[in-house]
Amino acid sequence: MTITACVFDAYGTLFDVAAAAREAAAEPGNERLAAVWPALAEDWRRKQLEYSWLRAIMGDHTDFWAVTQDGLDWAMERHRLGGDAALRATLLGLYWRLSAFAEVPAMLTALRARGLNTAILSNGSPDMLGGAVDSAGLGDLLDAVLSVESVGIFKPAPQVYDLVIQRFGCAKHHVLFVSSNGWDAAAAAAYGFQTAWVNRAGLPMDRLPGRPQHVLSDLTGIPALCGDVA
Ligand code: LAC
Repeated sequence: MTITACVFDAYGTLFDVAAAAREAAAEPGNERLAAVWPALAEDWRRKQLEYSWLRAIMGDHTDFWAVTQDGLDWAMERHRLGGDAALRATLLGLYWRLSAFAEVPAMLTALRARGLNTAILSNGSPDMLGGAVDSAGLGDLLDAVLSVESVGIFKPAPQVYDLVIQRFGCAKHHVLFVSSNGWDAAAAAAYGFQTAWVNRAGLPMDRLPGRPQHVLSDLTGIPALCGDVA
């Protein structure tokens, strides 16, 4: 089936969310973080996502930068790093300019060469997405950076996925949605997108409505799923 737009989740899919804790742990003076950084990064991510879902259920939206800070504060307290304001500032600064996974620029370039529209659809606030896109040098490879802030609720609310249809004016089944988050891939498939789950961690499939048509271990195979439009 013809794909005309390839739309990516941001955090964990294009940008390596563990990079902030990993890079901070390598800095001199951050030895206490170095001892715990993988667990801290996992807790930080888990709490960030939990808070996004819980706030959607509670009807009490705040933006993703706020839940990113709230999740970090929980994780730092859990790992006995709660009083370290300098470390907190370092981690948040690194999150603002997360590294993209190595295969991202070539993959996006290949999609554009095939005539596809490319976009991000993310929980991230517009300014934090702008920071990540700019620092990874991806701005010229994306037709749109769509943020949930346009609708004021986080994924996997269906009105978030509607933003893609509103932006590109195409049918749902002409969109390939790509996410490393199993729950996001499931929800996008249930919404009606063609979906690829980038299962970098080798996790079991989420037991949710919707099943991604494609499961990949990284992003290099995405252009081959799309065919040519131009
Ligand atoms: C995002 C989160 C869910 O970018 O990774 O939307």
